[in-house]
Amino acid sequence: MKEIKKIGVMTSGGDSPGMNAAIRSVVRTCAFYKIECAGIYRGYEGMIEGDFIDLNARSVKGIINKGGTFLKSARSKAFRTKEGRQAAYNQLKKANIDALVVIGGDGSFTGGLVFNQEFNFPVMGIPGTIDNDIAGTSHTLGYDTTLNTVVDVIDKIRDTASSHNRLFFVEVMGRDVGHIALNAGVGAGAEEILIPEEDLGLERLLESLRRSKESGKSSSIVIVAEGDKTGKNVFELKDYVEEHLPEYEVRVSVLGHMQRGGSPSCFDRVLASRMGVKAVESLLDGKSNLMVGLMNDKITVTPLERAIKGQSKINKELIRVSDIMSV
Ligand code: F6P
Repeated sequence: MKEIKKIGVMTSGGDSPGMNAAIRSVVRTCAFYKIECAGIYRGYEGMIEGDFIDLNARSVKGIINKGGTFLKSARSKAFRTKEGRQAAYNQLKKANIDALVVIGGDGSFTGGLVFNQEFNFPVMGIPGTIDNDIAGTSHTLGYDTTLNTVVDVIDKIRDTASSHNRLFFVEVMGRDVGHIALNAGVGAGAEEILIPEEDLGLERLLESLRRSKESGKSSSIVIVAEGDKTGKNVFELKDYVEEHLPEYEVRVSVLGHMQRGGSPSCFDRVLASRMGVKAVESLLDGKSNLMVGLMNDKITVTPLERAIKGQSKINKELIRVSDIMSV
């Protein structure tokens, strides 16, 4: 493999807290090994346009605690075409960039893998998404921060729910997986948690709410993953419960994109720092097409193909804990 003298780093797909910390780690690890580093703005879109910035150890000061990504992120239709990828390759060669670190989700890794296959261009992936839906790592960057954000918000909703003896449906992100809903739901003591991996069914939901009332609960919080499969959105669930359980006064809160923001937790900052080092050292060791991950608190690498095709598994033991806690 060609000697690596300059590494490009980019963020792609939905942003997540910890991305800036990961960029910082990649840049500083390059500086440590005395190789150059270039930031690529706006993911593959910026790569096609040659929108690059040379970065050194001082360029990334004061960002470890910043949410979002200073390199911006974007989803690129052009990169899905061979012409777009060829234009991107030409831009990288013109800038003397020899390898790539892609911080993003499975969609971003798919682009990186195709790019490697077409141009034999070294690529390493760092899993950055709040959804935690990527195989090959117990934690994606941003997931821990988002859990803490969601738990904090649910605690606040609990204050008003208990003041008014109300039931709240709270919708959280996660695309088509339920990790945020399940973990934040247990952490915030939600009475019910609706996730796509386990279709509770509306009857079971009504039964659970009846039991809550009978057991003397004056207010309830039901967390609903946005990919949930009850077939009703949170507003329709509100109407359904009000129709079948008129003793409940129901409100809805859709948390939305605030779950993507905020200063990264210490866990995410440390994870980002560890992953950035591993990604750069892997490239310098001549490795490619791998995603850096965390498995049993060890930093590991997984073939990109497996990370992309793999399914993150929902924690069945945690579902059981949740059922017991809502007795
Ligand atoms: O993948 C991260 C995520 O926040 C998902 O949880 C959510 O469904 C999606 O991105 C929202 O996408 P966009 O940022 O395009 O609105």
